[in-house]
Amino acid sequence: MAILRMLCKYQSLKVSLGAGVGIYLLLTLVSFGFNKVIWSPRVVHRDKFNTNFGDHFDKWVAHRQHLPRSSVFDANSDRIFYSNIQGYSDKKLSSSRTKADGSFAELKRLFGVDVFGGDSSDVNPPMLPPSLNLDEVPFMRDSHYKPSECPKTVSSITKYSRWFRERFQPDIKILLERTDVDVYSDYYKLLHYRLPFGLRLSNKTQLTTILNHPSFTNLPLYAEGRPQGCLSCAVVGCGGILNGSGAGAEIDSHDYVFRLNRALSTGRYAEDVGHKTSYYTFFPESMHAKDVEDKNATFFYAMFKAYDLDYAINMLNNDDPPRYFSRGRLYHLRKPNIDKRKLKIIHPDFFRYVFTRYLDNKAVRPTTGAIVVFLALHLCDEVDIYGFGYDPRFTLHYYDRTFQSHTDWGTALHDVDNERELWRKLHEEGALRLFKRDL
Ligand SMILES: *[C@@H]1O[C@H](CO)[C@@H](O)[C@H](O)[C@H]1NC(C)=O
Ligand SMILES: *[C@@H]1O[C@H](CO)[C@@H](O)[C@H](O)[C@H]1NC(C)=O
Ligand SMILES: *[C@@H]1O[C@H](CO)[C@@H](O)[C@H](O)[C@H]1NC(C)=O
Repeated sequence: MAILRMLCKYQSLKVSLGAGVGIYLLLTLVSFGFNKVIWSPRVVHRDKFNTNFGDHFDKWVAHRQHLPRSSVFDANSDRIFYSNIQGYSDKKLSSSRTKADGSFAELKRLFGVDVFGGDSSDVNPPMLPPSLNLDEVPFMRDSHYKPSECPKTVSSITKYSRWFRERFQPDIKILLERTDVDVYSDYYKLLHYRLPFGLRLSNKTQLTTILNHPSFTNLPLYAEGRPQGCLSCAVVGCGGILNGSGAGAEIDSHDYVFRLNRALSTGRYAEDVGHKTSYYTFFPESMHAKDVEDKNATFFYAMFKAYDLDYAINMLNNDDPPRYFSRGRLYHLRKPNIDKRKLKIIHPDFFRYVFTRYLDNKAVRPTTGAIVVFLALHLCDEVDIYGFGYDPRFTLHYYDRTFQSHTDWGTALHDVDNERELWRKLHEEGALRLFKRDL
C-alpha cells in the first residue's frame, strides 16, 4: 500500500525537475522495494549522476514565487528537491538569486508556508531521497564535547599515526538526544540514511515518543562531569580466547568495563572475564541484561531496524517486547529488565562514522562489538580489548560448552576478517591494546 501511495504521489508531480531528480525518484522507489532489507547506498555512486541541482533550484524558486501564498505544495516534490540541495550544494543555494540562505526559516519566509510542516503536528517525516554515499553528509558534532585532560589519551595517537588522524573525530555525536528529532536542522541531517545510519523512513511519532518518554531521562553519561584523571577501560567481547584465560581480575581493575550481547560474568566465568559492568550494549535480539549483575551499569541501546523503535517503546513502558515476524518465523524476545534512567541510545551518526571511517563500508553494517570498541575509544583515555579478533584456535564464545568453529556462525551481515584486521591495526597504531594469548 505504501508503495502504491508513493507511486500515485510521484505521478501527480507537476513540476519537471529534470533528469537528475528523475533518477533520484527512481532510486527512492527502488529503496522502497527493499523495504525489509537494509538499504545499501553503496550500490550506486553519486558521481555517476553529476547533475547541477543549483540550477534546478533557481527554476523551482522562480516557479514557486508565482504561486499564490496559500498554495498547497506537493510536499513530496518540494521535500525531495530541497534535500538534494541540502546534501551538498549549500553554497549554490545561497548564491541563488532569491538569496535564500538555505535555512528552514528562510524557506518559510520565501514561500509563506511551512515547507517542512515544521511543528510537532508533522507526524510523517518528509520523504527525502536516499543519499547515495554514506560519506556524503558530515558527521554531527557533540556540542558538549570537552577534550580529556589526561596527558596520554586516545586522541594523542593522532599526533603519531596518520592513519588514525584521518579517521578519528573526537567530538562525534555518540548518543541520540531529544534535540536530534525536535530541532529541525538536526533532524533533517538524519533523514539522509536509514537505520542504523540515520532516521530516514523511521516513524517520527515513535521517535518523539521514545525521546520524550518520562522514563527516558537520558541523564548525562558522567553525572558530575567527566571524572578527573585518566580513564582506563576494558571492552569485553565474547571471544573463546577468554575461556580459561584467568583475565578476570585484570579486566575488573579498569575504571570502566564495557560488555555486550551475552555478557555472562557470574560463577565460573568471573575468573576469565571479571564481573564489573559499567556499560552494557545491546539490540533487541542480543539483549541479555539479566546477565549483567552490576547494578551501576549504564545501558547502550543500538537500533538497527524499524522494529527496534517498537521494542524501545515497550521497554520504556515496561511492556513485553512486541512480537516479531521475520522470514516466516514468529519471534518472542526477552523482556529487558533494566533501569530506564540508565538507558542511552546510540546516535545513528556514530554507526555511520565507525562503518565508513574504520570498516571501509565493508559488509552491510558494523558488528555491535565494533560499535562498543569505538564507544570506549571515544569515552576513555586508554582502552584494552578482550575477547576480540575471532581467533580460530579457540571456540567461538567463551561460554560455549562444546567447541564451536567460527565458520559455523552466520556471519553474512558482517565482515569478520575485516574487523579482525581492524583490531590488529588499532593495536599496531597504539590506539588500543588487543588482548592476545599463547596456547
Ligand atoms: C507511526 O507510529 C504511530 C504510533 O505507533 C502509529 O500510530 C502510526 O500509524 C505510525 N505511522 C506510520 C506511517 O507507520
Ligand atoms: C575451555 O577451556 C578449557 C580449559 O581451560 C577446556 O578444557 C575447554 O574445552 C574449553 N571449552 C571449549 C568449548 O573450548
Ligand atoms: C556503584 O557506584 C557507586 C558510586 O559511584 C560506588 O560507590 C559503588 O561501589 C558502585 N557499586 C558497584 C557494584 O560497582
